[in-house]
Amino acid sequence: MTYKIISSDRIADSVVRMVISAPEAARNAHAGQFVVVMADEKGERIPLTMADFDKDKGTLTIIFQEVGFSTKALGRMRPGDAIYSVLGPLGKPTHTEGSGNCICVGGGVGIAEMWPVARALKDAGRHVTCIAGARTKGLLILEEELKETCDELLIATDDGSYGSKGFVTDILSEKIKAGSYSYIYAIGPVPMMKKVADISRPHKIKTVVSLNPLMVDATGMCGVCRCKVEGKTVFGCVDGPEFDAHQVDFDELAGRLSFFTDKENQYG
Ligand SMILES: Cc1cc2nc3c(=O)[nH]c(=O)nc-3n(C[C@H](O)[C@H](O)[C@H](O)COP(=O)(O)OP(=O)(O)OC[C@H]3O[C@@H](n4cnc5c(N)ncnc54)[C@H](O)[C@@H]3O)c2cc1C
Ligand code: FES
Repeated sequence: MTYKIISSDRIADSVVRMVISAPEAARNAHAGQFVVVMADEKGERIPLTMADFDKDKGTLTIIFQEVGFSTKALGRMRPGDAIYSVLGPLGKPTHTEGSGNCICVGGGVGIAEMWPVARALKDAGRHVTCIAGARTKGLLILEEELKETCDELLIATDDGSYGSKGFVTDILSEKIKAGSYSYIYAIGPVPMMKKVADISRPHKIKTVVSLNPLMVDATGMCGVCRCKVEGKTVFGCVDGPEFDAHQVDFDELAGRLSFFTDKENQYG
């Protein structure tokens, strides 16, 4: 099986949008799921959300930030090149059932992971507000796509270069005070997801986060992706990646994510 790169475009500083031919994964794809990509035979396994998929054409879109060795290697590949392996879909699909207004919150490249979930909630007939945030305007992605997808799009940048100055969580607090919402979905850096959970908890709004633990096999065998939810150990790859935000131990997740930072900096 070859996984040919159909297109590869830089959509922000160090963020690449790549369309890959992967008919099997595309045919079975659902919002909230991910694939594990190996750029070449000796490459690391990189878990990446299926940001978009076309079941008829058999293509998947991945959107990734070049943060280290493997994502930079993937970013250097060109249309026509073949990716060694695309394993998936993996993880449990997003739950879209229920009623009432939803808010989707995405930070940084997490916006790419929020996009399919916002689409799925819209397709399920929900009213969807998206709050997208980036450190600065040059790092903001998918603005046009989100405008087409959701009912309302609000943008925040840390430096105020675009949208409101501040964090996505500032906008979230205001929206919750002013409106009525039954579901919040958040994906992005761990401190952002923790803050979202802290804001929505007193309002008792169902809140789901998509966790991004380190992963190796992504099939439930190695235990590298273990996280604490409701005081119990769960595996991000097979039990998630989505979990009840009010039950996640974010401090433990942050600690585990920084475990190999020194080694990664050495090789990245
Ligand atoms: C289910 C899932 C879905 C994901 N979807 C996407 C996506 O759609 N787009 C995207 O850009 N990234 C996504 N990620 C994160 C992505 O897998 C990592 O950024 C990538 O594996 C880093 O590999 P690397 O070798 O380039 O960097 P490394 O050299 O391994 O790491 C470089 C830096 O990135 C940090 N890092 C490594 N892995 C992760 C991780 N899992 N989460 C957060 N930080 C990490 C390291 O701590 C280090 O600081 C996802 C992760 C998971 C678990
Ligand atoms: S990545 Fe190995 S058990 Fe989840």
